[in-house]
Amino acid sequence: MTEARPAQRIVVTGGAGFIGSHTVVALHEAGYVPVIVDDLRNSHESALDGIRALVGEVECHRVDCGDADAMAPVFERPVLGAIHFAADKAVGESVAHPEKYFDNNVGGTARFTALLRRHGVKHLVFSSSCTVYGEAESLPVAEDAPILPAASPYGYTKQACEDFLRMAHGAAEGDLGVALLRYFNPIGAHPSAHIGELPLGPPPNLVPYLIQAVAGIQGPLTVFGDDYPTEDGTCIRDYLHVCDLAEAHVAALAWLEGNAGELDTFNLGTGCGCSVKQVIAAFHAATGLKVPHRVGDRRPGDVTAIYADPGKAERLLGWTTRRSLEECLADAWRWQQRLMNDAH
Ligand code: UD1
Repeated sequence: MTEARPAQRIVVTGGAGFIGSHTVVALHEAGYVPVIVDDLRNSHESALDGIRALVGEVECHRVDCGDADAMAPVFERPVLGAIHFAADKAVGESVAHPEKYFDNNVGGTARFTALLRRHGVKHLVFSSSCTVYGEAESLPVAEDAPILPAASPYGYTKQACEDFLRMAHGAAEGDLGVALLRYFNPIGAHPSAHIGELPLGPPPNLVPYLIQAVAGIQGPLTVFGDDYPTEDGTCIRDYLHVCDLAEAHVAALAWLEGNAGELDTFNLGTGCGCSVKQVIAAFHAATGLKVPHRVGDRRPGDVTAIYADPGKAERLLGWTTRRSLEECLADAWRWQQRLMNDAH
């Protein structure tokens, strides 16, 4: 019989958020001990209840991950690695308040990384975005595609954090391994409906808005433009299930454990492009429900089409997506129904 290795604590900043909460569950399932660090500024207390329903008691610190004093208790016991999600992510808000985005996203990452180095933490997984590619010249996009000028302060903060982490990695001289994960469009929810996305206010993103439109919480979905140079005229993205994405973080940690001190970048997507109209049709196929929608103007800053070449993640991390678009949408809808039942 092989001996079980000692439980390894992994700090998850933003662990009460959408991707963070699903990653906490995936870490637990893989035998790690997740340690949530989240001041709940962009999430809800109820997310912690959902996590507990799935994994039992979990260590949780309601503090700012960049606050050295408040973070001291987190490092009182050994920490193997960290996954850094904590960030603001509303593109429109970032245009109105770039200072907030620079401070929280870039400054927060710098402060948190300093703590990791001070406490000798060896592995860092960073939550980046396909937004760093802008309007890609060729599709699918691989990791060596050019990084184009960012279309928003939010997008710029992801580029700046990646650059900063390359510098911090160089300065740490092999002591800090870093995996930069560029997400395409994560959607869906845990199939148990215990955790999912909880947008504060009207959702700016497609699937959260779509399910609220179907639920009658929002007015009809506005399709942002149907005059793009794509087959049906609507924009194309690469939508992946948040549980698949969560599993990629576990795979990235395992890769860091086997490749100590390295830095690398990975695209995380399905490899398939899907239009807004196809998402609407897939929702109908998955649930039997029609999505009330109308076509409106283009949204400033949207790229026409982007989808991943996820080959590198498959080769190096042994990771691919397993869940279909219909599953994503059925799970998102089940989550919305759960929220509505809870409200009654
Ligand atoms: C954006 C960001 C991405 C970020 C993500 C989550 C950019 C280029 N992308 O992704 O980095 O991680 O948000 O915050 O900054 N759509 C509609 N109607 C709606 C909402 C969206 O038609 O009400 C369309 C959009 O035009 C787009 C697609 O749906 O074509 C997806 O939009 P969205 O879910 O907002 O994600 P991205 O803009 O791709």
